[in-house]
Amino acid sequence: MGISIEKFLSLNDVQCEERIIAAKAILGKRLVILGHHYQRDDVFKHADYTGDSLKLSRQAAQSKADYIIFCGVHFMAEVADILSRPDQIAILPDLTAGCSMADMADLQKVEQAWKDLSVVLNADEHITPMTYINSAADLKAFCGHHGGVVCTSTNAQHVLEWAFKQRDKVLFFPDQHLGRNTGVRMGIPLEQIVLWDFDKPNGGLTVEEIKAAKIILWDGFCSVHQQFMPEHIDQYRSTYPEGKVISHPEASFEVCQKSDEVGSTEYIINMVKASPKGARWLIGTEVNLVNRLAQDYPDKFIHYMAPIVCMCSTMYRIDPQHLLWILENLVAGHVVNQIKVSPQVAKGARLALERMFKVSR
Ligand code: 13P
Ligand code: SF4
Repeated sequence: MGISIEKFLSLNDVQCEERIIAAKAILGKRLVILGHHYQRDDVFKHADYTGDSLKLSRQAAQSKADYIIFCGVHFMAEVADILSRPDQIAILPDLTAGCSMADMADLQKVEQAWKDLSVVLNADEHITPMTYINSAADLKAFCGHHGGVVCTSTNAQHVLEWAFKQRDKVLFFPDQHLGRNTGVRMGIPLEQIVLWDFDKPNGGLTVEEIKAAKIILWDGFCSVHQQFMPEHIDQYRSTYPEGKVISHPEASFEVCQKSDEVGSTEYIINMVKASPKGARWLIGTEVNLVNRLAQDYPDKFIHYMAPIVCMCSTMYRIDPQHLLWILENLVAGHVVNQIKVSPQVAKGARLALERMFKVSR
């Protein structure tokens, strides 16, 4: 049964912190806590390992712990389950912590797109399906079964290069921005990157458009990163012409084109860290990470790209109360909020993830 969450929701953060530390000490090496960079500080500080999606998925695959608690979102905990041993247990502290972008593609719609594309050309011969890691496990399995692959924001270019060595076109889902930004960076003309509107027959494309395309992008996006606008960069540059701009590739094409640097959360951290004292950065990514950078590097000037707070509200659902609830249940011998991918789906998804690991540097 387990201890109910109700007992934890009224605890304050200080009470939670003391009890989290105590429960972690009891569980010792049987437990590992992974924390994504967008987690709030009061959760992030309890992570044994922090990182971007690629780094944390590698960490999950290497971990020997019995319990892998993923302070992140649902697809990340799924990846931890897929890559860990069958006897290891992946846990997401709040089951409602999903990724709205990942939810924009589902198996039924992707299979329909594959069917529609197969009417125009032999999809399995001409198209490599490629999914951003921000996607459900069954979509990763779809890629596994169709000769396709997974990518993250760190390795998207290497993976895309690999995908083009397999077949002449790529169907990229669910994030149109990562797909477009990466394709253009590789030198693919914008005219050969088309958008598949999954609500329209044939994705709203003509047969000629499909035949001429190199990348067919799913019409998905991150609601957090789409808030950053090119005007925000123009405004900053007019005040600080010497300042640098760095954005996550989930931001729009226009924003990434105007940025000096584009990269994953880990890349953004490394760039800020490596910059000299007094460096000035405008950063286009989730607010918890940007605030942490401002705290960690007081000798640099950190500006947030949007005038409003762009927070990943689903990541934010992982709070100290839920983390403590999970930990005290484990101490009492109960597993709550396990994320379990069916063995059949996990097998296909693992194939696509392993292809990614082979090509990632
Ligand atoms: P990273 O892999 O760059 O951490 O990105 C994950 C994510 O969800 C960004 O929105
Ligand atoms: Fe998903 Fe966007 Fe949140 Fe990343 S920031 S987890 S892409 S909703």
